Amino acid sequence: MAAETGPLEGRVALITGAARGQGRAHAVRLAADGADIIAIDVCGPVSESITYPMPTSEDLVETVRLVEATGRKVLSREVDIRDLEAQQQVVADGIEQFGRLDIVVANAGVLSWGRIWEMSEEQWDTVIDVNLNGTWRTVRAAVPAMIEAGNGGSIIIVSSSAGTKATPGNAHYSASKHGLVALTNSLAIEAGEFGIRVNSIHPYSIDTPMVEADAMMAIFGKYPAFLHSFSPMPYHPVNHHGKKGLQEFMTPEEVSDVVAWLASDGSATISGSQIAVDRGTAKY
Ligand SMILES: NC(=O)c1ccc[n+]([C@@H]2O[C@H](COP(=O)([O-])OP(=O)(O)OC[C@H]3O[C@@H](n4cnc5c(N)ncnc54)[C@H](O)[C@@H]3O)[C@@H](O)[C@H]2O)c1
Repeated sequence: MAAETGPLEGRVALITGAARGQGRAHAVRLAADGADIIAIDVCGPVSESITYPMPTSEDLVETVRLVEATGRKVLSREVDIRDLEAQQQVVADGIEQFGRLDIVVANAGVLSWGRIWEMSEEQWDTVIDVNLNGTWRTVRAAVPAMIEAGNGGSIIIVSSSAGTKATPGNAHYSASKHGLVALTNSLAIEAGEFGIRVNSIHPYSIDTPMVEADAMMAIFGKYPAFLHSFSPMPYHPVNHHGKKGLQEFMTPEEVSDVVAWLASDGSATISGSQIAVDRGTAKY
């Protein structure tokens, strides 16, 4: 079945961390808006310091099924974003298949917990290496192909509320996500002359497997003062994705609404911006 015409008709989007969670929701939403999709994910463990289960190959296959159900095409591959060559290869294959690359959603990331002076080197290095260095490698692989394609485009870097404020208990994650703000804003200037816009989004409390209740309860139980940095969600009466009333978490699809807007021409004047996706909680 052919997709109906949408705001992203004829465009191509690369999404990292697309096997589940927010990445899958973004892939499905951008496809529903008309884009063909390049979906990558590591689909397996990245380090023993990550204590929640990682997705499997079957999860990425399910993303492919959901994207194809919208009528769009998808190229999927199991790629670790720490591997520049593998990302360059999938970008080249995507360009060969779809002819262009317009949108990047640099979404892959990992999280672990511990105090700064107690966490292991493996914890620190893994989070920085995936979230910051890996995201740079995504940008490094994608931007030359976007410039070459000559259509401008939009890059959405997935940071976090932890990228704009202190998050005691996961300082390595906060450092990586703050680093992404610097990457976003410098890239917005460097790539701007090629018509490529670059913005970061800063979600908070999205219902995905990364939000590991046991690990959070353990750290907040030990250090209750840390809780002050993690605001509860305020009451939100209208949610057009079917839920109403007080929600502890937001849905990945609610974040996709913002990603779809940043990917589209409706945000043509927005670049080098940090967009909070948190119902205002960062202001507490
Ligand atoms: N869930 C939240 O509350 C929240 C809040 C703010 C920001 N974020 C950020 O949103 C993004 C998506 O996370 P999510 O909540 O959907 O969690 P998730 O764990 O469900 O999804 C993350 C995805 O990234 C993939 N990934 C991890 N390391 C990778 C690597 N080295 N190479 C390729 N893929 C890799 C995982 O396999 C997984 O599919 C992350 O960057 C995360 O830091 C999440």
